[in-house]
Amino acid sequence: MSIRIGDVAPDFTQETTAGPIQFHKWLGDSWGVLFSHPKNFTPVCTTELGQVAKLKGEFDKRGVKVIGLSVDPVADHARWEKDIEETQGTALNFPLIADADKKVSNLYDMIHPNASDTVTVRSVFIIGPDKKVKLIITYPASTGRNFDEVLRVIDSLQLTANYKVATPVNWRHGQDCIIVPAVSDDEAKKAFPKGFKTLKPYLRITPQPNL
Ligand code: BEZ
Repeated sequence: MSIRIGDVAPDFTQETTAGPIQFHKWLGDSWGVLFSHPKNFTPVCTTELGQVAKLKGEFDKRGVKVIGLSVDPVADHARWEKDIEETQGTALNFPLIADADKKVSNLYDMIHPNASDTVTVRSVFIIGPDKKVKLIITYPASTGRNFDEVLRVIDSLQLTANYKVATPVNWRHGQDCIIVPAVSDDEAKKAFPKGFKTLKPYLRITPQPNL
């Protein structure tokens, strides 16, 4: 069954490059990003894993644990890790799930048979501290992901979890936000002391409230 935003992220225990991981226990109270790779020793995946390793500090700053997945055994992951370090200039610094029996891939509907019935698509799941799925993105195998976009979404999710705002098109940390329509003008005056501009009754702009 497919997973939808708001569902509890399915729990699992699987072998990884950091030993067996029970997913929910490993997440603890953190945010999480689970992302799949079609196959080991493939070029696009190699660049993606190197980039996520380079961005590890950015994920740490936001309290987010990252974990990759590929449908190959852990011994192959260990050999691939050496190639990643050699070609991308960064060693893997987060676990990579060895999903050789496709247990997790099937649980998360990462195999799309009309694309390929043997390897996963490029799935991204962002999971909140409540273990609920906050975002799902699916890319084809031929397109490498933009992990700056994943960080941008995490900034938006973490902000909107705590303030009654939404973030507009192409928003980045530090930019103005939108007051959610359920908040009345009177409530907004109290909740947003920096003030707000009303472009339309449903479109009210306020500086990012947590800065
Ligand atoms: C890659 O990671 O380079 C890749 C994997 C599967 C199909 C196409 C490209």
